[in-house]
Amino acid sequence: MNILITGGAGFIGTHLSRQLLGRGHRITVLDNFLPQVHGGKQQLAAELAPHVRLVPGDVADETAMRAALDDVECVVHLAAETGTGQSMYQVTRYGHTNLMGTSVLFDLLVGGAAGKLERIVVASSRAIYGEGAYHCEKHGPVYPPSRSTAEKERSLFDPLCPVCRGTCVSVPTPESAPLSPSSWYGLTKQVQEQMTLMFAQVLGVSAVALRYQNVYGPGQSLSNPYTGILAVFSSLAREGKPIRIFEDGKESRDFVFIDDVVQATGAAIESPLAGCHSVNVGSGQRTTVLQVAEGINAFYGGLSSIAVTGAFREGDIRHGLADLTQASRLLSYKPQWQFADGLARFLAWASDWSPSDTGYEGSLAEMRERGLLRG
Ligand SMILES: NC(=O)c1ccc[n+]([C@@H]2O[C@H](COP(=O)([O-])OP(=O)(O)OC[C@H]3O[C@@H](n4cnc5c(N)ncnc54)[C@H](O)[C@@H]3O)[C@@H](O)[C@H]2O)c1
Repeated sequence: MNILITGGAGFIGTHLSRQLLGRGHRITVLDNFLPQVHGGKQQLAAELAPHVRLVPGDVADETAMRAALDDVECVVHLAAETGTGQSMYQVTRYGHTNLMGTSVLFDLLVGGAAGKLERIVVASSRAIYGEGAYHCEKHGPVYPPSRSTAEKERSLFDPLCPVCRGTCVSVPTPESAPLSPSSWYGLTKQVQEQMTLMFAQVLGVSAVALRYQNVYGPGQSLSNPYTGILAVFSSLAREGKPIRIFEDGKESRDFVFIDDVVQATGAAIESPLAGCHSVNVGSGQRTTVLQVAEGINAFYGGLSSIAVTGAFREGDIRHGLADLTQASRLLSYKPQWQFADGLARFLAWASDWSPSDTGYEGSLAEMRERGLLRG
C-alpha cells in the first residue's frame, strides 16, 4: 500500500516506517521536525531517508497536507504535540497541531484529496480515559473522576469510589470505559479519535484508533523534557543527580515497548477489518514510577538519590493499565516484551547519548509558576 504517516519522523513513526518498508509498502512522511522533539535536526533517520517520500511541513498547512495525501491508500495519523503537563498551559499550541491539523486532514479527505483511501489509523492515547477503571467492593466497576487539587494537597492520591467515597482499586481499563480526560492533551486525543471514527464512516473507509499506553524504547526523544520519565530519569541517573518522584511513587503506568506498538500498529494497517474500532495497545503489566526510578538508578550504579516528594502535577493520572482483550481479538495482538527486558534495551541504547541540559528543571519551573505543579 501507499501509506502516509503524519508525524512519521518521530519515535513511533520511525520504527513503524522501518517495519512497513520491510514489508513492501511505500511510505510518505509529513512532519515539521518539531524542535522540542528533534532538537534542531531536520532529517529522517539516515537508513530511511532514501526510501521514504518526505513532505516537510505542518499538519495544519493545507498545501503540505494536500501534497502528502497524493495517491495514498492508508493514512496513519501520528503527528501531535504530546506533553501532558505542557498542554495545560500551551493550550493554543496543542489545539493548533492536534485539532487544527486533524481538521485540515479531514477537510482534504472529504474533499477527495485521496481518492484511493481505504483505511485511517489514528494514534489515540490512554489519556482519554482520565483515571480509568476501578473496582469498589460495594459498587463493582466504577470510574472515578479526575482527582481534586485539594485531595492531592492532603496526600490523598488514590481516587475514591465516586459512589461511596470509599477505597477502590485500579483494574485494567477496557475500551468501553467512559472517556474523561484529565488533561488538555488527553482531550485533544479524544477529539482526534472521535473525528477519525466519524469521518471514516462518512468517507466509507475503515478506521482504527489505537489507544497507546506509555510507549518507550530506543529512539524515543531524550531531549524533550515534557515526555517520557524513562528519558528524564536516565539522564539524571547517569549524572548522579537526585531523582525526585511525584506523589508517593506508587503511581503506576502500563509501559509498552516500541516493538509491541509497531506490531499492533502494523496489524491495524494490514488486518482485513471493516468498520471503525478503538483498541488499547499496552503491555498489560503495571509498573510503579518508583520501580522505574530504582531500575534505572541501579543500571547506572546507584549514583543518584531517589526522593519521593509528595509534589504533584495537574493533568497527571494515578494509574494506567490496559485491558488487551479487544486488541487480541481484533488484531491478534500479544505483547512480547517484559518491562525489565525492554528497560535494559532502552538503557543500552540511551547510554550512547551524551547528556546535556534536557530542560527538565525548566519545564518544572514553568509548571510551578502557573500553579500546575504543587507541593
Ligand atoms: N509515545 C507515547 O507514549 C504515546 C502514548 C500515547 C499516544 N501517543 C501518540 O502517538 C503519536 C506519536 O507519538 P511519538 O511518541 O512518536 O511522539 P513524537 O513526538 O516522537 O513524534 C511526533 C511527531 O510529530 C511531529 N509533529 C508535531 N507537531 C507537528 C505538526 N504541527 N506538523 C507536523 N508534524 C508535527 C513531530 O515533529 C514528531 O516527529 C502521537 O500522536 C502521540 O500523541 C504516544
